[in-house]
Amino acid sequence: MAGTFQNKIYGSPLPAAATGIQIRDAIEADLPAIVDIHNAAIASRISTAQLEPVTIESQREWFRAHSPAQHPILVAEVEGVIAGWLSFKEFLPRCAYRGTVELSLYISEQFRRRGLGRRLLQEAIGRAPQLEIHSLVGLIFGHNEPSVALFRAAGFERWGLLPGIARVDQIPRDLTIFGRHV
Ligand SMILES: CC(C)(COP(=O)(O)OP(=O)(O)OC[C@H]1O[C@@H](n2cnc3c(N)ncnc32)[C@H](O)[C@@H]1OP(=O)(O)O)[C@@H](O)C(=O)NCCC(=O)NCCS
Repeated sequence: MAGTFQNKIYGSPLPAAATGIQIRDAIEADLPAIVDIHNAAIASRISTAQLEPVTIESQREWFRAHSPAQHPILVAEVEGVIAGWLSFKEFLPRCAYRGTVELSLYISEQFRRRGLGRRLLQEAIGRAPQLEIHSLVGLIFGHNEPSVALFRAAGFERWGLLPGIARVDQIPRDLTIFGRHV
């Protein structure tokens, strides 16, 4: 997808092509990198309700259940390195929710604040119509300020608050629902 990349070092947007960034559908060979990035986020305790690290083998079935034609997994690749990923997930199994998906995304710590999260989210929004998706939601811990800011910057609004429904290391955490129609 064409676009610009906000380069924080030089302070000005650069053409995406000039920075070696590629947003593409994930392939199974990307799974180890996807799992590494996910496990680092699990350890941070801020972004996911998954509390134990996952293994590559345990995620293989999850990966294969995502088809590019229905629920893609996208990766952001920078100079050949997988720097982040985004997944589409069925929101609820009932037919009426078929056009609604939950988005999750994770950027490797060393690649954060370079516009990759924004790029992945924009790509997901751009693909939604061809996937017959009309509504996107993100389920985000209330204390996950970077993610809340990212989703807001991409035009999502807070549609819901489920107070104190998660326990992370015995601490009650709110779950917020961010959404946007496309
Ligand atoms: C949230 C996350 C995906 C953001 O990715 P990123 O590539 O660093 O974000 P970007 O550089 O594209 O930032 C886009 C906008 O998001 C907001 N943002 C991102 N990180 C932020 C932070 N640490 N603090 C405040 N705002 C932040 C800003 O509005 C930013 O725009 P700006 O840089 O022009 O100010 C990343 O921090 C991450 O992987 N966190 C752990 C996983 C997670 O929380 N996932 C969401 C749950 S599904």
